[in-house]
Amino acid sequence: MILSWWTHWLHNVIDMDLISHFPLASDLIETKESLANVAYIAAAVLFVLSLAGLSKQTTARRGNLFGIIGMLLAVGATIFGMMTGGYVEMVVAIAAAVVVGAILAVRVPMTGMPELVAMLHSFVGLAAVLVGISSHLQPWIEPLEGEELIHDIEIFVGVFIGAITFTGSIIAFLKLRGTIGGKPLTLPGRHVINLGMIVASVCLGIWFCAEPVDAGEQRMTALLIMTGVASLIGIHIVMAIGGADMPVVVSMLNSYSGWAASAAGFMLKNHLLIATGALVGSSGAILSYIMCSAMNRSFISVILGGFGGGGGGPAAAVEGTVTEFSVGDTVDMLEEAQTIVIVPGYGMAVAQAQHSLAEVVKILAAKNKEVRFAIHPVAGRLPGHMNVLLAEANVPYDIVLEMDEINEDMSTTDAILVIGANDIVNPAALEDPNSPIAGMPVIEVWKASNCVVMKRGMATGYAGVDNPLFYKDNTHMLFGDAKKNVDAILRALQNA
Ligand code: TAP
Repeated sequence: MILSWWTHWLHNVIDMDLISHFPLASDLIETKESLANVAYIAAAVLFVLSLAGLSKQTTARRGNLFGIIGMLLAVGATIFGMMTGGYVEMVVAIAAAVVVGAILAVRVPMTGMPELVAMLHSFVGLAAVLVGISSHLQPWIEPLEGEELIHDIEIFVGVFIGAITFTGSIIAFLKLRGTIGGKPLTLPGRHVINLGMIVASVCLGIWFCAEPVDAGEQRMTALLIMTGVASLIGIHIVMAIGGADMPVVVSMLNSYSGWAASAAGFMLKNHLLIATGALVGSSGAILSYIMCSAMNRSFISVILGGFGGGGGGPAAAVEGTVTEFSVGDTVDMLEEAQTIVIVPGYGMAVAQAQHSLAEVVKILAAKNKEVRFAIHPVAGRLPGHMNVLLAEANVPYDIVLEMDEINEDMSTTDAILVIGANDIVNPAALEDPNSPIAGMPVIEVWKASNCVVMKRGMATGYAGVDNPLFYKDNTHMLFGDAKKNVDAILRALQNA
C-alpha cells in the first residue's frame, strides 16, 4: 500500500502529460524548469568546490559551507522549479527529516558517526530500490520511442546497486556497532556463490528487458527476484570482510550509495542527482583506493572478502611482562624529552581527551619541546576521525602529520604518547604474517627511546589482535581512562 501511495505521489509531482494540456501553464512550467536547471548547475559547481574544500583541513569548514548552500539550492530548485504538486507531502517529509536529522546531529557522539554514516548509506540504497520499482510500476516520464530498453536497464541497474547498498550498509552498521562480530564469514565456495548470484541477476535482467511492456506481472517478478538476489549479495559481500578491513567497506559503501543515487537520477531524469551521485560515487571509490593503499590491501581482494581474518595459520602468541607507569612517571618522561610524538586512536575519541591534550601540547611547546601528532589513515572509526577531533580542539594543523610524513622520525624521537590507539601501532602487522592485520603499515612507535601507551586495560583493538608492543622493554603502560589521565598530566605540568 505504501509503495502504491509513493508511486502515485511521485507521478503527481512530475505529471508532465497533464501539464502539457494547458499552454499557459506549460510556458510557466518551462520557465520555472529553466531557472531550476540554472540553479542545478550552480549547485553542481558548489558540490565540486565542497569536495575540493573538504580535502584539506584548512579549507574544510569552507567546503562544508559550500556543500550546505549547494544542497539548499538543489532542494529549493527541485521544489519550486520541478514540482507541480504534492507540496504538502514534501513539506511534511522535509520537516520530519529535519527534526530527525537535528536530533541525531545533537545526540550521536563522534564515536557513533561511522554507524550513522552506514545507516545513511542504507537509506540511499533503499531510495534507489523504491524509485526503481515505482518507476517500473508507473513511469511518470514515459520513455521516448526506441528508448524503452535504456529505461529498463536504468531501472534494473538502479535497483540492483540500490539493493546491494541497502543490505550491505545494514550489515556494516551492525558490524560497526559490534552487534555482529568482526570475524569474516568465509563460506566454502564463497566466490562461486557470488559469481552465481551475479550470473542469476544478469539472466533476470535479460528476462526483465525481453518481456513485452504489457507483461507487467512477469517483469515485476524478474525485478523482485533480482532485488532479493542483490540483497543477498550485499549481505554476503560485507559479512565476508574482516573487522580489520572495515574502513574500506565504509568508503566502498559510500561509493555504492553515490552510484545508487546516480542511477535514481537517471530514472527520474534529474541531471543534478546524476551529477551528485557520480561525485559521491567517484570520490568514494578514490577514498576506497586510498584506504586500501594505507592498509596495503588490493581493493579486489578486500571486496571479494575473507581478508582481515588472518593469513591462514594461527597468529603468533603474544607474551612477556608489562611495565606499568604512573602519571608522575609519564610527566617525568615528557619533561626529560626534547622530541615528542603523540599517536591518538579510537580511545582518545571515546574518552574525548582531545581538549585537555591540546592544553598539554601548549605547555610542552612553551617549554621549547618539539611536539607533533602522528595520524594513521585508519585511526579511529572514520576517515579523518583524528584530524576532526584535533581540529575541534584547535591543535595547529602544522604539527599534525600523516603516518608517511613522520614514521621515519620515530627512531630519533625521545618520547611517544600513544593515546587510546592499539591496532595502528601493532608491530605484529609487520612481524607476523599470520596476523589478521599482516601487511598493514603501522606507526613504528617502538623505535623511539620511550613509549607510553595510555589505555584502560589489556583489551585488544577493533581487529581483535593481541599487541606485542605492550611487552617491549621501552614501552610502559599508563592504565585508565584517557581523559582522566591526560587531565592528571595537565595538572602536574601546570603545577610543575
Ligand atoms: P583500536 O585498535 O580500536 O584500539 C582502541 C583502543 O582504545 C582499545 O584497545 C581500547 O583499549 C582503548 N580505549 C577505549 N576506550 C578508551 C578510553 N576511554 N580511554 C583509554 N583507552 C580507551 O583503535 P585504533 O588504534 O585507532 O585503530 C583503528 C581500528 O579501527 C583499526 O583496526 C581500523 O581498521 C578499524 N576501523 C577503522 C575505520 C576508519 S575509516 N578509521 C573504520 C572501521 C574500522 P582498552 O579497552 O583496554 O581501554
